[in-house]
Amino acid sequence: MPIRRLPDELISRIAAGEVIERPAAAVKELVENALDAGARRIDVTLAGGGQRSLIVSDDGHGMSRSELLLAVERHATSKLPEDDLVHIRSLGFRGEALPSIGAVSRLRLQSRARGAAEAWALVVDAGTVGSPAPAAQPGGTRVEVHDLFYPVPARLKFLKNARTESGHAADAIKRLAMAHPAVAFSLVDDERTVLTLPTTLGDVAEQRLERLGRVLGRDFADNALRVDAERPGVRLSGFIGLPTLNRAGAQWQYLFVNGRPVRDRLLLGAVRGAYQDLLARDRHPMVALFLDIEPADVDVNVHPTKAEVRFRDGALVRGLIVSALRHTLAEAGHRASTTVGIATVEAVRPAFFHPGGNAGGSQPRLADAMRFQAPSGMSAGPQAGYDAPASRPEAATPVNGSSYPLGGNYPVDVPDPQG
Ligand SMILES: Nc1ncnc2c1ncn2[C@@H]1O[C@H](COP(=O)(O)OP(=O)(O)O)[C@@H](O)[C@H]1O
Ligand SMILES: [Mg+2]
Repeated sequence: MPIRRLPDELISRIAAGEVIERPAAAVKELVENALDAGARRIDVTLAGGGQRSLIVSDDGHGMSRSELLLAVERHATSKLPEDDLVHIRSLGFRGEALPSIGAVSRLRLQSRARGAAEAWALVVDAGTVGSPAPAAQPGGTRVEVHDLFYPVPARLKFLKNARTESGHAADAIKRLAMAHPAVAFSLVDDERTVLTLPTTLGDVAEQRLERLGRVLGRDFADNALRVDAERPGVRLSGFIGLPTLNRAGAQWQYLFVNGRPVRDRLLLGAVRGAYQDLLARDRHPMVALFLDIEPADVDVNVHPTKAEVRFRDGALVRGLIVSALRHTLAEAGHRASTTVGIATVEAVRPAFFHPGGNAGGSQPRLADAMRFQAPSGMSAGPQAGYDAPASRPEAATPVNGSSYPLGGNYPVDVPDPQG
């Protein structure tokens, strides 16, 4: 067979296969675009799990007629003004999302550039771009995606039922919303409002905690400790749950790098390492951690949906997380030990462990857990239960990998003892 150049339409469909795996991926890309456009309010509407239609409207800076036409071209982006892949500050930069979505759906964009007198609409149907027509749009951008994957029926077969697909879309919105508490979000699914996140007020930590409480539940907000730590060129902030607020899976660990939600094994491993003496091995903490790092020190261009990143100095990042979390937990343990009576200690203690789980290995950890909540007289100091446990037989054994609903199986590395 002769080598030939593929037609553009086919190239876009192939690219769409990587970037747009399911409706939630389209939602993620469109919400990211709205955030990059400086939106203060983003409203998402789904029908049929987002496959029949998904609509994302924002009040961002909008696009002019000519920008609309460029936006649906492959590799056209406004986000790399200096051809600089090293200092990326936006969520997008590849110029792939809109052409990819347009290749596998009926895409309709409607936008009014800030300060412009008129708004324009543009339709792309299975890769065929129409011509811009005048539209009625007060400001910002409205993107409608209808009949997602209709040109690629094979992909349709892999979709789950509408409820499941909507759930994934909601999850994608929640993750982005956690990192952008000043932006209001809503999600309407088959005419039912399932998510309303008003804009938050106060300083960054207050805004974050309020948003996290709404997304992750009051329980998290009431049982979370604030983390704030810095090393040259990198800052870690956010909230981590008390060990008592543990879960059976690691999917309640929300990690962000420069405002971008990631499922990164280095970061997940560091969180596990920080809690390892406080939780049974089948229990996982809830955390929402935000890493702000010099864009030049992290490569976000290593994964098709940017779910993983690569750090220039992974050991520095890992060390920062482990030490900041251990320190925060130890301080809280110390505070609890000086303010909480023994009755309370007894009341919380069993919550450290999953009933029936890890029976054999639970003894030394139970001791550690007690030290966490024990009155100060019983403890050698705030660090005692963390950095220098009296006995920790499992410490040198790698913990079994566990299954993450969003990212396959991550092997968990041996915790770094120096932390
Ligand atoms: N909601 C929006 N508001 C304003 N401009 C947008 C919006 N969505 C897309 N654009 C413009 O279209 C371009 C292409 O978008 P996209 O295909 O997602 O690629 P990328 O986000 O990587 O640049 C963006 O660079 C931006 O200029
Ligand atoms: Mg984009």
